[in-house]
Amino acid sequence: MSKKDDDSALKGALPEVKADPIARGLLSRHGVIERNATLLLVLSLLVVSVGGIVEIAPLFYLENTIEKVEGVRPYSPLELAGRNIYIREGCYACHSQMIRPFRDEVERYGPYSLAAESMYDHPFQWGSKRTGPDLARVGGRYSDEWQVQHLTDPRSVVPESVMPTYAFLRKELVVEDPAGHLVANRRVGVPYTDAMIENAATDLRAQADPEADTSALLDRYPKAVVSDFDGDRQKLTEMDALVAYLQMLGTLVDFSAYEPELNDR
Ligand code: HEC
Repeated sequence: MSKKDDDSALKGALPEVKADPIARGLLSRHGVIERNATLLLVLSLLVVSVGGIVEIAPLFYLENTIEKVEGVRPYSPLELAGRNIYIREGCYACHSQMIRPFRDEVERYGPYSLAAESMYDHPFQWGSKRTGPDLARVGGRYSDEWQVQHLTDPRSVVPESVMPTYAFLRKELVVEDPAGHLVANRRVGVPYTDAMIENAATDLRAQADPEADTSALLDRYPKAVVSDFDGDRQKLTEMDALVAYLQMLGTLVDFSAYEPELNDR
């Protein structure tokens, strides 16, 4: 009997196995690991961590995992207030805000959502439930009057709708500290400038007042929709804020000029 036949890893194995050069070589030595639970655990952890590092390490060398896209800007104070109402009322429970890159979605809702379009969302509103349609590109699809009428009484414009009524949003908008709101967002990485923060309270009102001088507002927040959203000039209401938010959704990126290939890495 040669020394190899004595190999303890192959003890009791069938003669064909003992004769197999592969079983006698590498596999017989692997038996040592399989019989020693601690060694198996330590070596498994080693293998898994090498795999993990190979996947994760490249991310540390990317400055940002979200590609920059022209046109994306932080929310104006009024849009931000509207967004808070959207979250408070739980609109996300029935509406998603993410168009997936599938043909049926793109044909129904428009160009698929880019990561950059929700980069200033804290928290994001992608959602996973579509009792109602996706709202990622609802901005500009309907008039302000339609939006107000629909929120006030959805069945007056869409008879089969199951959406709740939000007529109570016609009450005064109370934002206790518009500047503080922007500061809080700046702390989590939204690039609000000092000028944006200083003018937050004025910008909040100006966006819902077509007679106000809005050139500075539009410099700070390009493409912001200025309108008396709810048709009541006297009062700045929660309805104004929510409709201002809805009307900007998905309108910031100019998709006729957007070339996805330029962002390939
Ligand atoms: C119980 C589920 C539900 C909730 C909650 C809900 N919606 Fe809807 N929403 C729907 C349904 C269903 C439709 C489609 C029928 C219709 O147009 O009314 C819809 C339609 C819409 C539309 C028209 C979209 C389009 O492309 O035609 C908008 C805008 C909208 N909802 C905004 C909101 C906002 C803002 C809120 C929160 C204040 C909200 N919804 C809360 C169910 C809901």
